[in-house]
Amino acid sequence: MSQRVPICEAIENFCKATDSRWHTPGHSGGAVIPDALKSWGHQVWQYDVTEVEGLDYLLDKTGVIAEAEQLTAKAYGVTDTMFLTQGSTAGIQSAILATVKPGQKILVQRHSHISIWNSLVLSGAEPIWLLPEYDKWGLVKAFDVKEIELKLAANPDIAAVVLQNPTYEGRAGDIIAAVNAVHSFNIPLIVDEAHGAHWHFCDRFPVSGVDAGADLVIQSAHKTLPVLTGGAWVHSQGSIIDQDRLVAMSRLIHSSSPSYLLMASLDACRAHLTEQAPAGYLRLFEMVQRFHQHVKQSPEYRVLPLNLVHHDFSKINVHFLSQSSEFLLNTTKKYGIMFEKSEGRNLLFLTTLGTNSNDFKRLEAFLAECSRAQGRNMRTDRHSLMFQAVNSGKNIYNPRVIFYKEKELVRLAEAAGRVAAQPVSQTPPGVPLILPGELITKELIDCISQNQSAELAGLSVRNNDFFISVAK
Ligand SMILES: Cc1ncc(COP(=O)(O)O)c(C=O)c1O
Repeated sequence: MSQRVPICEAIENFCKATDSRWHTPGHSGGAVIPDALKSWGHQVWQYDVTEVEGLDYLLDKTGVIAEAEQLTAKAYGVTDTMFLTQGSTAGIQSAILATVKPGQKILVQRHSHISIWNSLVLSGAEPIWLLPEYDKWGLVKAFDVKEIELKLAANPDIAAVVLQNPTYEGRAGDIIAAVNAVHSFNIPLIVDEAHGAHWHFCDRFPVSGVDAGADLVIQSAHKTLPVLTGGAWVHSQGSIIDQDRLVAMSRLIHSSSPSYLLMASLDACRAHLTEQAPAGYLRLFEMVQRFHQHVKQSPEYRVLPLNLVHHDFSKINVHFLSQSSEFLLNTTKKYGIMFEKSEGRNLLFLTTLGTNSNDFKRLEAFLAECSRAQGRNMRTDRHSLMFQAVNSGKNIYNPRVIFYKEKELVRLAEAAGRVAAQPVSQTPPGVPLILPGELITKELIDCISQNQSAELAGLSVRNNDFFISVAK
């Protein structure tokens, strides 16, 4: 490794120099390990350190963490990068708190991750919603710049815009046009690039927000890069963002005990990417391309075709036309495959720098079995119906107002005309089917009842009946 990895080196040095630990965490560097975890080995405990002399402090950094962040900013070509150990969630919250004040308007997509709605509660901002559109596969489309321009023109007092790019399935919008549109109003564009931390390192991917000049770009490094779960970063650039305010907001929401294991994995990942990602992603691209050429389309499924400008090639989406969810689940299990997401009739398979030709062989074998099962195991549910598509999209209360409103539980079957008070979601993707503050319609209730209410978080079950929390 020719690159500096300041956090990793500092932890290594600390471990070598310290034989007797008289500080947190309470496992004293692995001197005591609970029995159930002994098989994980000792080293992980030893490296799980805290902010002692020489190891810097994430919330007030001047040493190795600051250096690692600067190296990361350089690798992505931005002015500043801030490490996060609480996922993109912490970055999204910090970004929204840093750009809008209570009562100010913010343009956000209805089909956003729940962390965005939560940030609206925290900030007290007033959302202007961009409603989603779906394609023929039942997948949400990427943002539409024309819609953004229309909303900005109709609401010239919008203080910031948040866009998710890409969608969970890898769809990408025209981020350069979005940056230009938003900057023409002299306001910041925050990009939730949770699923696109790898884009900057290979030109076969769609354009990343960092390369398009977006002001704040939040990436769940842990989702697509070799980083421990929870490790993420927020990149900032340009003159619109008040960096001190961003830092102040991150201190407001971040734990005072950030994990050094996560920070070390971010530090090491950046070095790994700079050295190996360009060649690694080209290799991956070739494998994915071969898969697309090789895999036969079948009456049972369609593999969404490659589209390098508007779709991340590393996400393989397969749309199943008739097989039941149960058959798909059992068959993936049979091949030892775990997919990233199942939603409607679509399975999403995520490839990474770690995916190899054997993985592709398994995926192809699984698909071949699905083809052979043609006409059997037919689905009887109406699972493919998109819940969001029947959502009224009618917002009655602002997120903070509904959050603090008195609530009551009512039978789902009798909730038409009431205002939802709790998110109802499927995870992943963590995008609420019903957002608090939204009007509940009969169409929505029918859709939920006919599908899989039991798998939805946010509904309560009493005496085999579903209940939903609504505003009193
Ligand atoms: C689009 C999107 N944004 C933000 C998040 C939150 O990311 P994290 O889990 O890193 O906090 C997720 C998580 O799934 C997501 O899908």
